[in-house]
Amino acid sequence: MRTDYQLRQTVWKDWLWGGENLRASPDPMAASYYISRMGFQPHAYSGLETGSRNVVRHVVRQNRIIFVLVSPLNPGNEEMGRHLITHGDGVKDIAFSVEDLDAIVKKAKERGAKIVKDIWEENDEGGKVRFAQVQTYGDTTHTFVERGTYNGLFLPGYKRPLVPVDNITKTLPDPKLDFVDHIVGNQPDLEMEDAAAWYEKHLIFHRFWSVDDTQIHTEYSALRSIVVTNWEETIKMPINEPAPGRRKSQIQEFVDYYGGAGVQHIALNTKDIISAIRHLRSRGMEFLSVPNSYYDQLKEKLKLSKVKVVEDMNVLQELNILVDYDDNGYLLQIFTKNVQDRPTVFLEVIQRNNHSGFGAGNFKALFEAIEIDQAARGNL
Ligand SMILES: [Fe+2]
Repeated sequence: MRTDYQLRQTVWKDWLWGGENLRASPDPMAASYYISRMGFQPHAYSGLETGSRNVVRHVVRQNRIIFVLVSPLNPGNEEMGRHLITHGDGVKDIAFSVEDLDAIVKKAKERGAKIVKDIWEENDEGGKVRFAQVQTYGDTTHTFVERGTYNGLFLPGYKRPLVPVDNITKTLPDPKLDFVDHIVGNQPDLEMEDAAAWYEKHLIFHRFWSVDDTQIHTEYSALRSIVVTNWEETIKMPINEPAPGRRKSQIQEFVDYYGGAGVQHIALNTKDIISAIRHLRSRGMEFLSVPNSYYDQLKEKLKLSKVKVVEDMNVLQELNILVDYDDNGYLLQIFTKNVQDRPTVFLEVIQRNNHSGFGAGNFKALFEAIEIDQAARGNL
């Protein structure tokens, strides 16, 4: 069924960051991390200097990927402070660029979505932007952004960064990450169905792909996953829940530390994952490691496969990049370690070669790699 509106590519996300960036630094630590380690560039800023009295927002950008890192400026800030105490650093909001905000909000309301903030407008010299915000799983929200003909730097109220060019970006190679491929939400036990159904009911998404715990399990833990997507299939939102195993599922570990449902990982698409991971490793980014036995098995299995991986398998192994495939194509993917102290959010880098899956064939290898770290944390 064709929907009567369009939800296009995810274009920005609000991230929370707290603690040490409360000091008056022009380029605080979280933004600096994404710039130096991940190859983002300073893009826009909103804070005391621009008239924002309650929160500061550092916007970092890499091609079509935009993260907005937000922290409270004042003691006792309700919205940001409470989220930060409960969840630690995490993804508070995932925003979608939309073409017909009125139609989306009307439909969401008719179908009973919780509206966090009804349609509002913001203006500056670049023009007008319209927004609305709805509640999805846990404390996570979606903001719909209708830009119209707005031609400012980012959104109304934002100015150029206080430090427009970080000197470190002049000397480090560009990882060339292009766009958000998918964003995964972890749910508590038995809440996956409801979370997936929320997207079907309120945003007219449909199911794209799913796996159950008979397909994704190790000796110790298991998960189930449903991927929902918009009509155009430009937004992919896998929804996970833990499944019973001999020990604690990694999904349950996330839920325990995050304090409920929330975003587990953001996958960033690139056309050249080998160069991207070489460059990210040279920047000191840390990734999960994969046992050599994974590559031994993979090389044997690929001999029997119709698909030919053009990348050098020895280079993929050296960089710990995972491969999943079917008869028509393959994907290459790798997962970072957690990007904050709590074992919650991490990032993925992915390259697709005519393959639209999510690496089900790699979940076991990924699980086993995560479980090594989970055991080291005393949580397995
Ligand atoms: Fe993923």
